[in-house]
Amino acid sequence: MRVLGINAIFHDPAAALVVDGRVVAAAEEERFSRRKHGKRPVPFSAWELPELAAAWCLASADVDVDSLDAVAYSFDPGLCGDAADLGLADPWDWLRVDYARRAPQFLAAALPGLDPDKVRFVPHHVAHAASAGLAAPPAGDDTAVLVLDGRGEVASHLAGVYRDGRLTPLRSQQLPHSLGLLYEDLTRHLGFLHSSDEYKVMALASYGTPKHLDALRELVRATDDGGFRVEPVDWASLAKAVAPGAEPGEEHADLAASVQRRLEEVVLDLARWLHDASDGAGTLAMAGGVALNCVANARIAAEGPYRDVWVQPAAGDAGTALGAALHVAGELGDRSVPMTGADLGRGWSDEELEAELRRAALPYTRPASIAAEAARVLADNGVVAWYQGRSEYGPRALGHRSLLAHPGDRDTTRRMNDVKGREQFRPIAPMVRAERFADLFEGTYPSPYMLFVHRVKPAWRDRIPAVTHVDGTARVQTVHPDTEPLVAELLAEFERHTGLPVVVNTSLNTAGRPMVDTPREAMELFGSAPVDLLALGPFAVHRRALGGAR
Ligand SMILES: [Fe+2]
Repeated sequence: MRVLGINAIFHDPAAALVVDGRVVAAAEEERFSRRKHGKRPVPFSAWELPELAAAWCLASADVDVDSLDAVAYSFDPGLCGDAADLGLADPWDWLRVDYARRAPQFLAAALPGLDPDKVRFVPHHVAHAASAGLAAPPAGDDTAVLVLDGRGEVASHLAGVYRDGRLTPLRSQQLPHSLGLLYEDLTRHLGFLHSSDEYKVMALASYGTPKHLDALRELVRATDDGGFRVEPVDWASLAKAVAPGAEPGEEHADLAASVQRRLEEVVLDLARWLHDASDGAGTLAMAGGVALNCVANARIAAEGPYRDVWVQPAAGDAGTALGAALHVAGELGDRSVPMTGADLGRGWSDEELEAELRRAALPYTRPASIAAEAARVLADNGVVAWYQGRSEYGPRALGHRSLLAHPGDRDTTRRMNDVKGREQFRPIAPMVRAERFADLFEGTYPSPYMLFVHRVKPAWRDRIPAVTHVDGTARVQTVHPDTEPLVAELLAEFERHTGLPVVVNTSLNTAGRPMVDTPREAMELFGSAPVDLLALGPFAVHRRALGGAR
């Protein structure tokens, strides 16, 4: 079966193509449109579809529109109620629902040849659940699934269990109670862009003290039946609002720390309830925007009752395109094939990359090993733009569209944040050879998608200061040679030079822009930032060859 998944309703519009239960292509519209998050999550934009991503998914797999068995749309307007009844203060919510109802016609216009009757609505949180429960590695037993979101049609959360590829929902929490919307409100209060910058709040939280935890425990609490309550929070009584663009202060870090800590406590309660309700499922799979909170995820892994915790790398709404497609493929009789990597986006052949370099008239070489070449530059404290293979699905760079640097230099954090033009309180993260993980870090292993934080062992904190956050943690990506051979080779080469099995890895973009997707965008970034080496597939472009400073 051939099923195209579409996420379009709120933000992070994306498309995914599932063929015979396997995800063969998935991409976010922002990588094509160059508009971060694709669009703002307002009702007026709900009609906009991931047209470019959808067309690319089909073309990349050589699938014609008329040969699709179904199109899975990750929102079901038939489930929606009146916004006021849900406690949502959005007078235009009806417009979003109306656009969703007309999605089959919009899709038929965007994808000429599509029969609108092939479009199936998938409940938003069923799509999130499938992106976790059906895409996770095989567990050997039941997989509990926890969706923690801002909002879907009428709920903000889903707890259930997958048995033999079928979801049994056990509990959902109705709106307006929402852990995701709580965090979004805080994000807005702290002067950041809500539905976008929540990860900055999580980073800020590690600088604060949870002084308001008692007050938040009154307002935000799990209930005995697997749900939760979120009462309205008077944010201004806890810390004054930060104007957009202004620097948050100590009181704001304390507020962020308080909400973050309370969130962790409540999601732990929800995870424990689900473990009991699922008769002790061994694996927990998670999705929904809140599942991008790697500090909370780490606590669930460390303190929760599960043997394994797996988080969908595209845990935000983009992942619902993949989940909706897997869900419908299952309904049509296909068994889903677990994901083995997030590199589901666009890629270019070596010949195409070389043609791009020639067109740009850049001096390039083709070294015997691009991994060894990059490791030499990194060992010399250079910065490397690392562009390899297919681009990542989801918000994290995982060694395909990455900016790499030396972890042993305390100044690396400042340099990287300068290259990217972003706030200095933002941590940068390490990638580590899987076989060396336990020597350096404590916590969840493997962690191929950077969705958990780990404690850096004391003996290593001074050796890798650039990736050790102020609270002694790091957000680690483990790299296994079977799944990421080229990055594993780079890490091995870097360790040979420096004795450090770790490299700084951050996304290949500048602040406020989506990650680089095309070779041309990689060259543009290289030309506009103090990057020493562009490793474009097997080709090397050195800044010094351009007459640059290094
Ligand atoms: Fe969602």
